[in-house]
Amino acid sequence: MTSPDTIPLRVLRLIGSPRGAESESLRLSQQILEGLAVQSGGRAIELIDLDLNTLPHVDGDYALALASPVDLPQLGSAQRRSDELIRQLDEADVLLIATPMHNYTVPSALKVWIDHIVRVRVTFTPTPQGKVGVLRDRPVHVAISSGGLISGEQARQPDFLRPYLKAALGTVGLHALEFFSVEGTARGDVALEQAREMAKEAIRSFFTPQ
Ligand SMILES: Cc1cc2nc3c(=O)[nH]c(=O)nc-3n(C[C@H](O)[C@H](O)[C@H](O)COP(=O)(O)O)c2cc1C
Repeated sequence: MTSPDTIPLRVLRLIGSPRGAESESLRLSQQILEGLAVQSGGRAIELIDLDLNTLPHVDGDYALALASPVDLPQLGSAQRRSDELIRQLDEADVLLIATPMHNYTVPSALKVWIDHIVRVRVTFTPTPQGKVGVLRDRPVHVAISSGGLISGEQARQPDFLRPYLKAALGTVGLHALEFFSVEGTARGDVALEQAREMAKEAIRSFFTPQ
Protein backbone atom coordinates (compact mmCIF):
# COMPACT_ATOMS: atom_id res chain seq x y z
CA MET A 1 0.00 0.00 0.00
CA THR A 2 1.24 3.55 -0.78
CA SER A 3 1.87 5.58 2.39
CA PRO A 4 0.45 9.14 2.29
CA ASP A 5 3.99 10.56 2.51
CA THR A 6 5.01 8.96 -0.77
CA ILE A 7 2.22 10.78 -2.59
CA PRO A 8 3.60 14.15 -3.72
CA LEU A 9 2.18 17.33 -2.20
CA ARG A 10 0.33 18.94 -5.06
CA VAL A 11 0.87 22.71 -5.18
CA LEU A 12 -1.09 24.84 -7.61
CA ARG A 13 0.76 28.13 -8.16
CA LEU A 14 -1.13 31.04 -9.72
CA ILE A 15 1.10 33.60 -11.40
CA GLY A 16 -0.55 37.01 -11.51
CA SER A 17 2.34 39.24 -12.59
CA PRO A 18 2.76 40.18 -16.24
CA ARG A 19 6.55 40.43 -15.68
CA GLY A 20 7.46 36.80 -16.29
CA ALA A 21 10.76 35.66 -14.78
CA GLU A 22 11.51 39.23 -13.57
CA SER A 23 8.51 39.19 -11.25
CA GLU A 24 9.21 39.98 -7.60
CA SER A 25 6.08 38.17 -6.40
CA LEU A 26 7.11 35.07 -8.38
CA ARG A 27 10.53 35.26 -6.70
CA LEU A 28 8.84 35.45 -3.30
CA SER A 29 6.59 32.51 -4.12
CA GLN A 30 9.71 30.49 -4.89
CA GLN A 31 10.86 31.02 -1.29
CA ILE A 32 7.47 29.90 -0.05
CA LEU A 33 7.91 26.73 -2.11
CA GLU A 34 11.23 26.17 -0.36
CA GLY A 35 9.46 26.71 2.97
CA LEU A 36 6.83 24.16 2.01
CA ALA A 37 9.59 21.68 1.17
CA VAL A 38 11.08 22.16 4.67
CA GLN A 39 7.68 21.88 6.32
CA SER A 40 6.76 18.72 4.46
CA GLY A 41 9.97 17.01 5.65
CA GLY A 42 11.22 15.59 2.38
CA ARG A 43 7.86 14.72 0.83
CA ALA A 44 8.04 15.37 -2.91
CA ILE A 45 6.26 18.44 -4.25
CA GLU A 46 4.38 18.39 -7.51
CA LEU A 47 4.19 21.98 -8.77
CA ILE A 48 1.52 23.01 -11.24
CA ASP A 49 2.14 26.52 -12.57
CA LEU A 50 -0.73 28.48 -14.02
CA ASP A 51 0.14 31.78 -15.71
CA LEU A 52 -3.06 33.78 -15.30
CA ASN A 53 -2.04 36.32 -17.94
CA THR A 54 -3.19 33.94 -20.67
CA LEU A 55 -6.74 33.51 -19.30
CA PRO A 56 -9.54 35.05 -21.38
CA HIS A 57 -12.22 37.10 -19.63
CA VAL A 58 -15.57 35.50 -18.90
CA ASP A 59 -18.15 36.04 -21.66
CA GLY A 60 -21.86 36.77 -22.07
CA ASP A 61 -22.99 33.12 -21.90
CA TYR A 62 -21.11 32.70 -18.66
CA ALA A 63 -22.68 35.84 -17.18
CA LEU A 64 -26.12 34.55 -18.23
CA ALA A 65 -25.47 31.16 -16.64
CA LEU A 66 -24.38 32.76 -13.37
CA ALA A 67 -27.43 34.99 -13.30
CA SER A 68 -29.84 32.08 -13.91
CA PRO A 69 -31.66 30.57 -10.88
CA VAL A 70 -31.14 27.06 -12.32
CA ASP A 71 -28.36 25.33 -14.26
CA LEU A 72 -28.63 25.94 -18.01
CA PRO A 73 -28.40 22.84 -20.22
CA GLN A 74 -25.75 24.08 -22.66
CA LEU A 75 -22.23 24.83 -21.49
CA GLY A 76 -20.41 27.71 -23.19
CA SER A 77 -16.62 27.84 -23.60
CA ALA A 78 -16.11 30.01 -20.49
CA GLN A 79 -18.12 27.51 -18.41
CA ARG A 80 -16.00 24.65 -19.70
CA ARG A 81 -12.88 26.66 -18.84
CA SER A 82 -14.36 27.37 -15.43
CA ASP A 83 -15.03 23.63 -14.88
CA GLU A 84 -11.41 22.87 -15.72
CA LEU A 85 -10.01 25.62 -13.44
CA ILE A 86 -12.23 24.47 -10.56
CA ARG A 87 -11.15 20.85 -11.07
CA GLN A 88 -7.49 21.95 -11.04
CA LEU A 89 -8.05 23.93 -7.84
CA ASP A 90 -9.94 21.11 -6.19
CA GLU A 91 -7.15 18.62 -6.89
CA ALA A 92 -4.50 20.82 -5.23
CA ASP A 93 -3.35 20.23 -1.64
CA VAL A 94 -1.96 23.76 -1.37
CA LEU A 95 -2.77 26.92 -3.31
CA LEU A 96 0.14 29.32 -3.81
CA ILE A 97 -0.67 32.73 -5.24
CA ALA A 98 2.08 34.99 -6.60
CA THR A 99 0.62 38.43 -7.11
CA PRO A 100 1.69 42.04 -7.43
CA MET A 101 -0.55 44.80 -6.08
CA HIS A 102 -2.14 46.71 -8.96
CA ASN A 103 -4.06 49.84 -8.06
CA TYR A 104 -4.54 48.80 -4.44
CA THR A 105 -5.86 45.34 -5.26
CA VAL A 106 -5.24 42.15 -7.26
CA PRO A 107 -4.10 42.46 -10.90
CA SER A 108 -6.83 41.94 -13.48
CA ALA A 109 -5.40 38.55 -14.49
CA LEU A 110 -6.00 37.20 -10.97
CA LYS A 111 -9.47 38.76 -10.93
CA VAL A 112 -10.28 36.85 -14.15
CA TRP A 113 -9.30 33.56 -12.49
CA ILE A 114 -11.50 34.43 -9.49
CA ASP A 115 -14.41 35.18 -11.84
CA HIS A 116 -14.01 31.66 -13.25
CA ILE A 117 -13.82 29.76 -9.96
CA VAL A 118 -16.41 31.55 -7.79
CA ARG A 119 -19.49 29.89 -9.29
CA VAL A 120 -22.98 29.60 -7.90
CA ARG A 121 -24.18 26.00 -7.32
CA VAL A 122 -20.67 24.74 -8.14
CA THR A 123 -18.21 26.26 -5.66
CA PHE A 124 -20.67 28.02 -3.37
CA THR A 125 -24.27 27.58 -2.29
CA PRO A 126 -26.49 30.61 -1.82
CA THR A 127 -28.39 30.46 1.49
CA PRO A 128 -30.57 32.98 3.35
CA GLN A 129 -27.55 33.57 5.61
CA GLY A 130 -25.22 34.24 2.68
CA LYS A 131 -22.92 32.29 0.36
CA VAL A 132 -21.52 29.03 1.74
CA GLY A 133 -18.34 27.62 0.23
CA VAL A 134 -18.30 24.10 -1.17
CA LEU A 135 -14.57 23.41 -1.62
CA ARG A 136 -12.49 21.56 0.96
CA ASP A 137 -10.44 24.05 2.98
CA ARG A 138 -6.68 23.85 2.48
CA PRO A 139 -3.63 26.10 3.00
CA VAL A 140 -3.43 29.14 0.74
CA HIS A 141 -0.12 31.00 0.72
CA VAL A 142 -0.06 34.41 -0.91
CA ALA A 143 3.17 36.08 -2.10
CA ILE A 144 2.55 39.80 -2.62
CA SER A 145 4.85 42.37 -4.13
CA SER A 146 4.04 46.09 -4.01
CA GLY A 147 5.83 49.21 -5.20
CA GLY A 148 4.93 51.09 -2.02
CA LEU A 149 4.27 49.98 1.54
CA ILE A 150 0.98 48.28 2.42
CA SER A 151 1.68 47.35 6.06
CA GLY A 152 2.57 49.30 9.17
CA GLU A 153 2.36 52.95 10.13
CA GLN A 154 4.38 54.12 7.11
CA ALA A 155 1.83 52.77 4.60
CA ARG A 156 0.22 55.62 2.66
CA GLN A 157 -2.20 53.69 0.50
CA PRO A 158 -5.24 51.49 1.01
CA ASP A 159 -4.89 47.72 0.80
CA PHE A 160 -7.91 46.11 -0.85
CA LEU A 161 -5.82 43.15 -2.01
CA ARG A 162 -5.67 41.13 1.20
CA PRO A 163 -9.27 41.72 2.39
CA TYR A 164 -10.57 41.10 -1.14
CA LEU A 165 -8.72 37.79 -1.53
CA LYS A 166 -9.96 36.69 1.91
CA ALA A 167 -13.55 37.47 0.95
CA ALA A 168 -13.39 35.97 -2.56
CA LEU A 169 -11.64 32.73 -1.59
CA GLY A 170 -13.70 32.47 1.61
CA THR A 171 -16.79 32.43 -0.61
CA VAL A 172 -15.72 29.09 -2.10
CA GLY A 173 -14.57 27.61 1.23
CA LEU A 174 -10.88 28.56 1.37
CA HIS A 175 -10.32 30.31 4.68
CA ALA A 176 -6.73 29.42 5.68
CA LEU A 177 -4.90 32.28 3.96
CA GLU A 178 -1.35 33.24 4.92
CA PHE A 179 0.15 36.41 3.45
CA PHE A 180 3.82 37.20 2.83
CA SER A 181 4.94 40.42 1.18
CA VAL A 182 7.89 42.24 -0.30
CA GLU A 183 6.82 45.87 0.01
CA GLY A 184 8.37 49.04 -1.38
CA THR A 185 9.95 47.56 -4.51
CA ALA A 186 9.95 51.06 -6.04
CA ARG A 187 11.91 52.59 -3.16
CA GLY A 188 15.40 51.77 -4.43
CA ASP A 189 17.86 48.89 -4.17
CA VAL A 190 18.65 49.21 -0.46
CA ALA A 191 14.98 49.27 0.54
CA LEU A 192 14.28 46.35 -1.78
CA GLU A 193 17.01 44.22 -0.25
CA GLN A 194 15.71 45.03 3.25
CA ALA A 195 12.17 44.12 2.21
CA ARG A 196 13.38 40.84 0.72
CA GLU A 197 15.25 40.00 3.92
CA MET A 198 12.19 40.71 6.05
CA ALA A 199 10.03 38.48 3.87
CA LYS A 200 12.64 35.72 3.91
CA GLU A 201 12.71 35.80 7.70
CA ALA A 202 8.89 35.74 7.92
CA ILE A 203 8.80 32.69 5.63
CA ARG A 204 11.59 30.95 7.52
CA SER A 205 9.87 31.38 10.89
CA PHE A 206 6.48 30.32 9.51
CA PHE A 207 7.64 27.11 7.83
CA THR A 208 10.43 25.91 10.10
CA PRO A 209 9.09 23.25 12.47
CA GLN A 210 9.27 24.40 16.15
C1 LIG B 1 -0.72 48.65 -13.35
C2 LIG B 1 0.08 48.71 -12.07
C3 LIG B 1 -0.50 49.20 -10.93
C4 LIG B 1 0.24 49.27 -9.75
N1 LIG B 1 -0.38 49.70 -8.62
C5 LIG B 1 0.29 49.71 -7.46
C6 LIG B 1 -0.35 50.08 -6.25
O1 LIG B 1 -1.53 50.39 -6.20
N2 LIG B 1 0.37 50.08 -5.12
C7 LIG B 1 1.70 49.72 -5.09
O2 LIG B 1 2.28 49.72 -4.01
N3 LIG B 1 2.32 49.35 -6.21
C8 LIG B 1 1.67 49.32 -7.39
N4 LIG B 1 2.28 48.91 -8.53
C9 LIG B 1 3.70 48.47 -8.46
C10 LIG B 1 3.83 46.95 -8.32
O3 LIG B 1 3.01 46.47 -7.28
C11 LIG B 1 5.29 46.61 -8.01
O4 LIG B 1 6.10 47.02 -9.06
C12 LIG B 1 5.48 45.14 -7.74
O5 LIG B 1 6.74 44.94 -7.14
C13 LIG B 1 5.40 44.31 -9.02
O6 LIG B 1 5.47 42.93 -8.70
P1 LIG B 1 5.80 41.88 -9.84
O7 LIG B 1 7.26 42.08 -10.18
O8 LIG B 1 5.54 40.55 -9.23
O9 LIG B 1 4.91 42.18 -10.99
C14 LIG B 1 1.59 48.84 -9.73
C15 LIG B 1 2.18 48.36 -10.90
C16 LIG B 1 1.44 48.30 -12.07
C17 LIG B 1 2.08 47.74 -13.31
